[in-house]
Amino acid sequence: MKRSRSEYGDVIIYREADEVAHGAADAFVEIVAGVLGDHEVVRVALAGGSTPKAMYRLLASPAYRERVDWKRVEIFFGDERCVPPDHPESNYRMAREALLDHVPLGADRVHRILGERSPPEAASAYQQTLIRVAGEKPRLDLVLLGMGPDGHTASLFPGTPVLDERSLLVAPVWVDKLESWRVTLTVPVLSAAAHVVIVTAGDEKAEALAKALDGARGVVPITLVRAADQRWLVDEAAAQKWRGRD
Ligand code: 6PG
Repeated sequence: MKRSRSEYGDVIIYREADEVAHGAADAFVEIVAGVLGDHEVVRVALAGGSTPKAMYRLLASPAYRERVDWKRVEIFFGDERCVPPDHPESNYRMAREALLDHVPLGADRVHRILGERSPPEAASAYQQTLIRVAGEKPRLDLVLLGMGPDGHTASLFPGTPVLDERSLLVAPVWVDKLESWRVTLTVPVLSAAAHVVIVTAGDEKAEALAKALDGARGVVPITLVRAADQRWLVDEAAAQKWRGRD
């Protein structure tokens, strides 16, 4: 494992994707324990995607499950596909199956985005939930993010108006190339987080990661997220084109 720095935060480079998942699970345990040392509840936003999913599975395993005070963890989602909660594409379903069903969360402490509603209704309802639970200017304690091959994160996709949204906390977004609606936390909410952990692995992310971390060649959506403590956990494959890795 190698540690490096970028203008967008620390970069920890692991040999393989499964080490990224372990590193992210360790970071989750460390950050959650740190927040719970000073607060009654820790507010965490989960991401969708296969890289985050590998980390959720680890957190649900005996090696990790006992290291988190789950009844004091409040779960949010960074984004959601506009599908019902039992749909194969649902981020909530993925997180429930990989993690939430396997850990002793407190009652009413999972706040899913209502993907079955119309996109505007789902976004508006989630914004109200976020404000009710975390206040008008929500400062989540930990936001987990993945990154797509195009440099998107959450559902902040290249070329979408939501990239410029600075007043709404939650917004619906039509994603042309997926021909589907999403609901996403906006840049201000993601950047207000106390801690952001970005997990990225695989050759197909190398171009976008290099662009993001080098920061020189155009705006990559994930670089819009600028949290106080932000760390990238990546594998060698994803970091192979990043000039700053050595
Ligand atoms: C989603 C995610 C999305 C995801 C990235 C990375 O709803 O799909 O929120 O932002 O984290 O696309 O996904 P992979 O790890 O599967 O490449």
